[in-house]
Amino acid sequence: MSENKYYNIITYGCQMNEHDSERLAGMLEEMGYQHTDELADADIILLNTCIIRENAELKVFGKLGELKQYKRENSDLIIGIGGCMMQQDEPVDEVYKKYRHVDLIFGTHNIHHLPNLIKKIEETRDRVVEVWDEEEGLIPDLPSQRESEHSAWISIIQGCDNFCTYCIVPYVRGRERSRPVESIVDEAKRLAEDGVKEITLLGQNVNSYGNDLDKEITFPKLLEELNKVEKLKRIRFMTSHPRDFSDALLENIKKLDKLANHIHLPVQSGSNKVLKEMNRGYTREYYIERVKKIQEEIPGAAVSTDFIVGFPGESEEDFEKTIELVKELNFDMAYTFIYSQRSGTPAARRDDQVEEEVKKERLKRLMDLQNKISYDKNQKLIGTTQEILVTGPSNNDPEVYEGRTSTNKICFIEKNEELIGEIVEVKIEAAKSWTLEGTVI
Ligand code: 5AD
Ligand code: SF4
Repeated sequence: MSENKYYNIITYGCQMNEHDSERLAGMLEEMGYQHTDELADADIILLNTCIIRENAELKVFGKLGELKQYKRENSDLIIGIGGCMMQQDEPVDEVYKKYRHVDLIFGTHNIHHLPNLIKKIEETRDRVVEVWDEEEGLIPDLPSQRESEHSAWISIIQGCDNFCTYCIVPYVRGRERSRPVESIVDEAKRLAEDGVKEITLLGQNVNSYGNDLDKEITFPKLLEELNKVEKLKRIRFMTSHPRDFSDALLENIKKLDKLANHIHLPVQSGSNKVLKEMNRGYTREYYIERVKKIQEEIPGAAVSTDFIVGFPGESEEDFEKTIELVKELNFDMAYTFIYSQRSGTPAARRDDQVEEEVKKERLKRLMDLQNKISYDKNQKLIGTTQEILVTGPSNNDPEVYEGRTSTNKICFIEKNEELIGEIVEVKIEAAKSWTLEGTVI
């Protein structure tokens, strides 16, 4: 056991990575390490990286440079880097050659080997590089040091088989592997016994859950099983692929009382030409039909989406189609990204890349429009009553508490420690594009 030893983990990217970091933390805690917020006090610093867009990578290299000073002050410090970036040869080479203060490089498929890798470094003080091309089956259930006492992530399917032409994920996270239903339900029960009220099921494409399992199990059926878990109050999931968003799933969202009223359904573009070249497997018309059906059949449901602007060959006319789709569908929220060339993906090899200035200008137009729509939608909530799960102090102001509505909107309330972890009714009094404010009833 390591006595009075401290760790810090810096995480980039999506919820999947956040969840992996909780598992890395869980293993470090089992080894006797304790968490510290101060990098200067840490005996181990881990970076869990993301490679989805270029700016994610740039941030990681910036941080690695910064960490050098801590190594200078404490030569025993172990600096490790893992995550999606390390599943690619180029960044691994660059880290290994240019950042000599990094002791450990590992990938997404062997996070469960962290304790052994650290022991090896402690014993030999050699630099260790261990990245696997694929997993030996699924990553086993691991202890998790959860960020929140009341909400938890549960990974249900790893990897992605879709190969959207812009996306690096299938190359770094591997093929789709569903976790057995029993193991998911057991984890949900354990978490609920532990006081967790809300779970979020994670996967690159949760709708293909079960396709690779022998048993007759689908995502809607998994939701039915989880809805039975006593003490659990809310179930969320992300991300859904529109192509696989079935009527059976829609029916279950309507029927199962614990399912949150929020669906994240990334569309990426409103142009059929671009959608085809992205290999998304659906048309603009199909997508509009799905969202309208959700909005009509589940009153009050919030739909959010992702957009990529400036995909290679995207013309002004294509972009206008995206703008029209946004106007037609009134999303509650949208995450908007500038297309980023990811080496190894088909779209990166195209010679009709859109100019940076054009991409930025389109991004701004799209964001301005969506912010206005989100603002108007949220304004309509003023005066209504919403249920929020109170999570604690807000990021910016410890005197203000926050929680999320079933529709996944952040709502600020007055500080009240007793409410942490409770689902309470709130009267909405003010609203912006991204947040609400309310008073607990
Ligand atoms: N460039 C920009 N955005 C991307 N995304 C995925 N790959 C890229 C890329 N190369 C976006 C998609 C996806 C979200 C998680 O990230 O919109 O839904
Ligand atoms: Fe990437 Fe497409 Fe898979 Fe999402 S569905 S992870 S965008 S390849």
